[in-house]
Amino acid sequence: MTPSVPRRLRTAVLISGRGSNMMALVNAAQQSDYPADIRLVISNKPEAEGLRRADAAGVKALAIDHKDFETREAFERELDAALNDHNIEFVACAGFMRVLTNWFVARWDSRLINIHPSLLPKYKGLHTHRRALEAGDTVAGASVHWVVSEVDGGSVIDHETVNITPQDTEDSLMERVLARELILYPRALATAAKDVLARQL
Ligand code: GRF
Repeated sequence: MTPSVPRRLRTAVLISGRGSNMMALVNAAQQSDYPADIRLVISNKPEAEGLRRADAAGVKALAIDHKDFETREAFERELDAALNDHNIEFVACAGFMRVLTNWFVARWDSRLINIHPSLLPKYKGLHTHRRALEAGDTVAGASVHWVVSEVDGGSVIDHETVNITPQDTEDSLMERVLARELILYPRALATAAKDVLARQL
């Protein structure tokens, strides 16, 4: 009898920039037993470096420029159509710098995750490293969470911590947190994908 191949969740990654987290997911998904298969990368910025990196890795890469649309929802309808055209079941935001509307969040409810460079619930939003340094924190980190309508407000799937040293600047902290993000996100996507697959059983 041939052993059955475990099902992998058909996943898209949304990006806006260089795509280091996205590449960490693409690389993790090279393992045949990884529970997610990265089928598509979409950037809202056509010039994003991550699009070239995805393409070079053999992953379908699309630009949908949010500036081509009059409203946030019109942009998201196009995004949603592209996800459906590619039979996508699960979406991972990785440095995707657009706030999503309630419409999109409801449509992808429990199938949408994001990585955020802070130890949530601390420092939702922007400039997380600066805010951690200004507050005199001794620990920083990154979190992967389910996306809900409140920005960075969904429940945390997994996190990684980084010690802050007295010498740290915003840049040095950002660099060390990013190094942990690249370990965290593949692990958290695997957790979330297994959760979704188990719900479908
Ligand atoms: C990461 O730090 C992510 O947490 C934040 O934006 C950065 C994206 O970097 N939201 P990259 O595009 O994955 O290189």
